[in-house]
Amino acid sequence: MKKKMTTVPFQGTAEQEKQLHALIAEHCGTPGAIMPILQKAQAIYGYLPIEVQQIISDGTGISMSEIYGIVSFYSQFVLNPKGEYAVSVCMGTACYVKGAGAILDRLAAIIKVDPGEVGDDGKFSLDATRCIGACGLAPVFLVNEDVYGRVEKPEAVDGMMKKYME
Ligand code: FES
Repeated sequence: MKKKMTTVPFQGTAEQEKQLHALIAEHCGTPGAIMPILQKAQAIYGYLPIEVQQIISDGTGISMSEIYGIVSFYSQFVLNPKGEYAVSVCMGTACYVKGAGAILDRLAAIIKVDPGEVGDDGKFSLDATRCIGACGLAPVFLVNEDVYGRVEKPEAVDGMMKKYME
């Protein structure tokens, strides 16, 4: 799936930027350092918006197209911030065969956010994830730390999502 950039404005702090510059200075000049720089930058910001990619490009001399190519290729890199409520649907095999796809569609329709994106108001984000290790509860989805398992019918998510919709 092609990764899309969010329309939610970037809100990095001066402290985060200071950490990022220190990170670049620490790794700059080391061959192959771009992966650890991107991983640690994501740990600082929680995701890798275009503004952060630009700072890394300026600091390392690695072109924006190369950096964008890396972050859009590897699934570990996230281009969008999480919403206040981060909704994740497990698409591992056990969940998939028990209808996780229909649950993902239902959730997307309810919160009006496509998979891999965050809503314009920042309230919800939606992601399809790999196995989260709760296969006995398949199909499973999460809202932040809240786990919803054995969601037998997609319509069941309507009631589960109510408290987050208010
Ligand atoms: S496949 Fe969904 S929790 Fe393992």
